Amino acid sequence: MIRVLGIETSCDETAASIVALDGASAPKILSNVVLSQIAEHAAFGGVVPEIAARAHVEALDGIVEAALTDSDMSLDDIDAIAATAGPGLVGGLIVGLMTAKAIAAAAGKPLLAINHLEGHALTARLTDGLTFPYLLLLVSGGHTQIVRVAGVGDYQRWATTIDDALGEAFDKTAKMLGLPYPGGPNVEKAAAKGDPARFAFPRPMKGSPQPDFSFSGLKTAVRQTAQAIAPLTEQDVADICASFQTAVADALADRVSRALSRFRAEFPHEERPALVVAGGVAANRMIKTTLEGLCDKAGFRFVAPPLKLCTDNAAMIAWAGIERLQAGLKDENAFDFVPRSRWPLDIVSTPVVGAGRRGAKA
Ligand code: KG4
Ligand code: ZN
Repeated sequence: MIRVLGIETSCDETAASIVALDGASAPKILSNVVLSQIAEHAAFGGVVPEIAARAHVEALDGIVEAALTDSDMSLDDIDAIAATAGPGLVGGLIVGLMTAKAIAAAAGKPLLAINHLEGHALTARLTDGLTFPYLLLLVSGGHTQIVRVAGVGDYQRWATTIDDALGEAFDKTAKMLGLPYPGGPNVEKAAAKGDPARFAFPRPMKGSPQPDFSFSGLKTAVRQTAQAIAPLTEQDVADICASFQTAVADALADRVSRALSRFRAEFPHEERPALVVAGGVAANRMIKTTLEGLCDKAGFRFVAPPLKLCTDNAAMIAWAGIERLQAGLKDENAFDFVPRSRWPLDIVSTPVVGAGRRGAKA
């Protein structure tokens, strides 16, 4: 039996969780506490890093305590502490990792510094017992990537966004149209009443041999359209949202189907490989239905973990810790680990975006 306490503070969720694995049965999430800061950032139309860091400081000890209480455990029952150490907003990362270091030092437990993206990448093994290899589509407010997951610590990025993340494109579209934050769910709600054929927005990268994503041109097209027909009626907003969402689904389908074909070519012996989605944008019905259709056609299994585990949470961090321990990847230098605002999951592929002292963004 191995039990790990996970801590997640990389963006605007303060989270702690305890996950257990006894070898004989499926892993169990004994507690999963997530405190969202959405209300604190809403007035600013996006996450404000300083507010996020302060909110983590105020909440984290209580959230860790709640995770222990919910699972009926004390620190003595825990085998290791795993904390997100990057990538993300550095203020929040410092709060989470320092807290984890302090708990681990005081309780005399091993510490693991976890890559947040690895948490997303391995979640489907916690929820669905997936075996390697599989394909991951991560679509959140901060990331848009397709990753081939071949083993614990063995990730290859096949595609990334060259500008905005998909969730960011939803949030910025919402802001331009005067819809509240977070934008994604509100764009989806408005789109339900709109005409998806009214505006012919671009499908960025569609047909391009380059595998990556791009959303900033689409965002510009939305802005220009909104400006051209302003003042906007409620119906105009709905029509723009519906047209935007359709363009996104179409562009996504093109990019993902390329990755499915590549996976088929590289792993011809996988009978029914899996495509896993993670990230908040995976909540979008139209996107989900589009991906399901693609998988059906290509003979892939479509795996969408419950939304609670698709969006940011600490169970995925605890689980990544368990996976690392099981794989013999003990983190001997975790107490010296300095949080990394940038930390690509794939350390082999050439960076596409961002360079400099902090390293590649993706
Ligand atoms: O994974 P997540 O909760 O947090 C991180 O970014 O790490 O993802 C949040 C993102 C936001 O950009 C939000 O607008 C988007 O996911 N989102 C959606 C929907 N629900 C959330 N985008 C499109 N449709 C939705 N229904
Ligand atoms: Zn995330």
